[in-house]
Amino acid sequence: MKTRITELFGIEHPIIQGGMHYVGFAELAAAVSNAGGLGIITGLTQKSPQKLASEIARCRTMTSKPFGVNLTFLPSLTPPDFPGYVQAIIDGGVKVVETAGNNPQKWLPALKAHGIKVIHKCTSVRHSLKAEAIGCDAVSVDGFECGGHPGEDDIPNFILLPRAAEELKIPFVASGGMADGRSLVAALALGAEGINMGTRFIATKEAPVHDNVKQALLKATELDTRLVMRPLRNTERVLVNAAVERILEKERTLGANLKFEDIIKEVGGVYPRVMIDGDMDAGAWSCGMVAGLIHDIPSCKELIDRIMREADTLITKRLAGFMR
Ligand SMILES: Cc1cc2nc3c(=O)[nH]c(=O)nc-3n(C[C@H](O)[C@H](O)[C@H](O)COP(=O)(O)O)c2cc1C
Repeated sequence: MKTRITELFGIEHPIIQGGMHYVGFAELAAAVSNAGGLGIITGLTQKSPQKLASEIARCRTMTSKPFGVNLTFLPSLTPPDFPGYVQAIIDGGVKVVETAGNNPQKWLPALKAHGIKVIHKCTSVRHSLKAEAIGCDAVSVDGFECGGHPGEDDIPNFILLPRAAEELKIPFVASGGMADGRSLVAALALGAEGINMGTRFIATKEAPVHDNVKQALLKATELDTRLVMRPLRNTERVLVNAAVERILEKERTLGANLKFEDIIKEVGGVYPRVMIDGDMDAGAWSCGMVAGLIHDIPSCKELIDRIMREADTLITKRLAGFMR
């Protein structure tokens, strides 16, 4: 399959693995890239620019295919050393950066000067247009279904993607709720030129997370995610667990008075405990509604090959069969 996304990133299949905190290590990024998609290392999971540099170098030993690095700009009392991370990306010869969380404009000149393509993740048409206007090469349009931060507009992909297609000139991928060949074909029909998957890639053989996390995804249905931190305008879609129930109870009782400090125990420092230790009740961790469509733990190659095979059959048999 050839789309503007496969051409832009020099990849075989229009499938991207979105940055995921404590999941997007070199093992997963390399496995996705080796399978013909675009794997992405999560920059800020590496605690310093030096650590990111060695993670990039480690990924290079596992794949000769293109891979990217995610840079998430979230509000923080002690901001990470972003200039250092950007330099590590440039020095590491990485050719794709996935930005998210905030406007990446400040970092574009340095990235562009080194021929790095930037795909910005947005949850609205207006932010996508802004990304286009400041010179991003592509957009990842993240619908309300997505795991992680869906924004505050709550527009699902059946509306968001065709709206993006109406307005954008640069290519975009559909993100949020993508799992299989049906997702890919639907995304293409709605105007996207590929898909970005997060949650689905956690339940793969190569995802370097505790088996408890993969089993939790197998067990979960589409009814098992919750939105937390809405009163803080930092909404996150997470898998329900005891900690999430506690957050929701605090949100109900404190209402508009809720402060970040009230839930810090349930959201701070949670990822290593969940992803590495397998402590599934340690706190709130991102998960998409797409968990309901995850029924197995294939390798990244099996997953991507299956998606492309299904998409081919859907387009050439099922859809073509409807035409008279
Ligand atoms: C466990 C987990 C951690 C994530 N961490 C990040 C992150 O650090 N930065 C980011 O930009 N997106 C992050 N995301 C969002 C994904 O990159 C992707 O946009 C999202 O998962 C797409 O929705 P899906 O889960 O329905 O596929 C995370 C998602 C999950 C499930």
